[in-house]
Amino acid sequence: MKTDIVKLEQNAGAFSEKEEEYLRRAGKIIREGGLVAFPTETVYGLGGDALNRESSRKIYEAKGRPSDNPLIVHICRLEDINGIVSELPESAVRIAEAFWPGPLTMILPKSDRVPFETTGGLDTVAVRFPSHPAAQRLIAYGGGYIAAPSANLSGRPSPTTAEYVIQDMEGRIDMILDGGEVGIGLESTIVDLTVEPPQILRPGYVTQEMLCRVLGEVDTDVTILRDDSGHAPKAPGMKYRHYAPKGELVIVEGAPDRVAAYINSRTAEDGLRGERTGVIGTEESMERYHAHVVKCLGSRGDRDSIARNLYLVLRQMDDEKVTKIYSEGFAADGFGQAIMNRLLKAAGHRVVKV
Ligand code: TXA
Ligand code: MG
Repeated sequence: MKTDIVKLEQNAGAFSEKEEEYLRRAGKIIREGGLVAFPTETVYGLGGDALNRESSRKIYEAKGRPSDNPLIVHICRLEDINGIVSELPESAVRIAEAFWPGPLTMILPKSDRVPFETTGGLDTVAVRFPSHPAAQRLIAYGGGYIAAPSANLSGRPSPTTAEYVIQDMEGRIDMILDGGEVGIGLESTIVDLTVEPPQILRPGYVTQEMLCRVLGEVDTDVTILRDDSGHAPKAPGMKYRHYAPKGELVIVEGAPDRVAAYINSRTAEDGLRGERTGVIGTEESMERYHAHVVKCLGSRGDRDSIARNLYLVLRQMDDEKVTKIYSEGFAADGFGQAIMNRLLKAAGHRVVKV
């Protein structure tokens, strides 16, 4: 399949005539059952018509993803949620008012219009109203309901730039809308509103504290930061070893001096054994490391930068063919919970405390 790749210069909402034409063409592809990758404020999505079972099947095939892993349905107007849920609790309206459009996904009981192919056989549907202008326009042109997982091959880090979408998806889908680098860099927060109290199934930019301010009590799935809880994660996709670089990743936690000393002794040893070594560090510690490849996530004080660069740096480790990677750890409070959730998964929960 030939993949049409086009650039969108304007992310601020005002599209040129040419860009409108690209977006209309992309919307038509979606309405006719094809697949289009597009930027959102979190990560790039791989979109198809959420109400068309054939489109959902194609999404699983293009990603190489197990079909029991449900897709998020993206909308571009609040009222459109009524078309795909069988019940709209007051809690959903309150958090929609507080956080939509934005990086938040709600789980609600699905209506009959949503095929089981889209929800991975579940009676519930995940709904998100993204804030990215190109995403909103594409959803409108595409018929109002776009099912979109992250636009990576299953098991790879989610793409935060069009280059990585192209790397994973060229030849497998109809079109890629290149909107440059995304803003947040980690996938949306998922909150399950079918249980009482509501439960966070995947942490993201909208934190537990932020949700609690609107909803009162909000739980977190125990599996978010642990793999020894004896429970299966409630978001089916969270059970897979996700977000993984090809090299073996280990997180090292402790006082900065000890972390640097430990990592340097390990990379020296690994290097002698013929491994290609990499370190994921921060501005504060960068010069301390002596590995083959040293990448910086940003300043420790700037969590937005750490989040935005995490998948990018994991992908760069692959590009540089690194076989052993060591990363510093981060505090898991607030937005840090999302950062550590993704980093722990990428590391298969290998953590060394020094
Ligand atoms: O930020 C995002 O949410 C991005 C962008 C493209 O919008 N999308 C995304 O989709 O991350 P994906 O498919 O990579 O992750 C969707 C997650 C999976 O872990 C899936 O299991 C969970 O949402 N999920 C979807 N529907 C669900 C449902 N009905 N019940 C529980 N979990 C659900
Ligand atoms: Mg994904």
